[in-house]
Amino acid sequence: MPLVSMNHFLPQAKKEGFAVGQFNVNNLEYFQAITEAAKEERSPLIFGASEGAIRYVGLNNIVALAKVAAEESGLPIALHLDHGSSFEMVMKCIRAGFSSVMFDGSHYPFEENIRLTKKVVEAAHAVGVSVEGELGTIGGVEDDLDVAEEDATLANPEQAIRFWEETRVDAMAIAVGTAHGMYKGEPKIRYDIIEKVAKNIDAPIVLHGGSGVPDESIKKAVSLGVGKINVNTENQVAQVQVIRELLDKNPDMIDPRKYLGPSREAIKEVVKGKMRLFGSSGKA
Ligand code: 13P
Repeated sequence: MPLVSMNHFLPQAKKEGFAVGQFNVNNLEYFQAITEAAKEERSPLIFGASEGAIRYVGLNNIVALAKVAAEESGLPIALHLDHGSSFEMVMKCIRAGFSSVMFDGSHYPFEENIRLTKKVVEAAHAVGVSVEGELGTIGGVEDDLDVAEEDATLANPEQAIRFWEETRVDAMAIAVGTAHGMYKGEPKIRYDIIEKVAKNIDAPIVLHGGSGVPDESIKKAVSLGVGKINVNTENQVAQVQVIRELLDKNPDMIDPRKYLGPSREAIKEVVKGKMRLFGSSGKA
């Protein structure tokens, strides 16, 4: 199957009350681990590629790896630009073969965010590519984005509803208290904001910073209208733990396959667990 836009599965997710995971890709092993997990779970999936990951892996390599995963697995897979910072970057990814993009205009004033996001939606929808927009600023560190906790601002529900009405994005990321990276304590999620926005727009809500959020909180958020959840850090933690242990125990180990292979299994297990938790297992 070729890569698909998120509209292949997000409307169904919103209707049936499950969420599809966006799993960020950092190198080849992530593509392999996430695809294997989705095959075993029969789950739709979204590969998330940040601008940092694109610089590291290479734009054409990312597209090629995602296409191979979709063709060989037969699963509905979207390749999604995570936190796209400009119209130019969005267009570059669409031209290279991405099937979905996020335009993150959350740091612009509200009206400017609407204007720029609308421009992205117009261009992307013309070629069948889905779009995620963002309102409010999500705290934490992810690649080029570094938002101090005190600077993270929650989304205003009325503004979020108007943002969707004007832009018609296919997925709506709103800051509701989660953050990129692992949490020191438990995140305080504003379920009331999720509920109010989800009830008033057709698109599902996107929860960024999915790593480290307790299972019960995820279930509640999904029941209220979250239809896409982003996960990156938990996979990185699982991967590096295995590599550290193996290299500590075997100082002479030099073949990367000997430590990257087992760490790939660890990523796969995390992803499978998330797919079950999000309710996307069996939905492909
Ligand atoms: P985590 O790294 O906290 O899982 O967040 C991922 C994310 O939101 C990507 O946009």
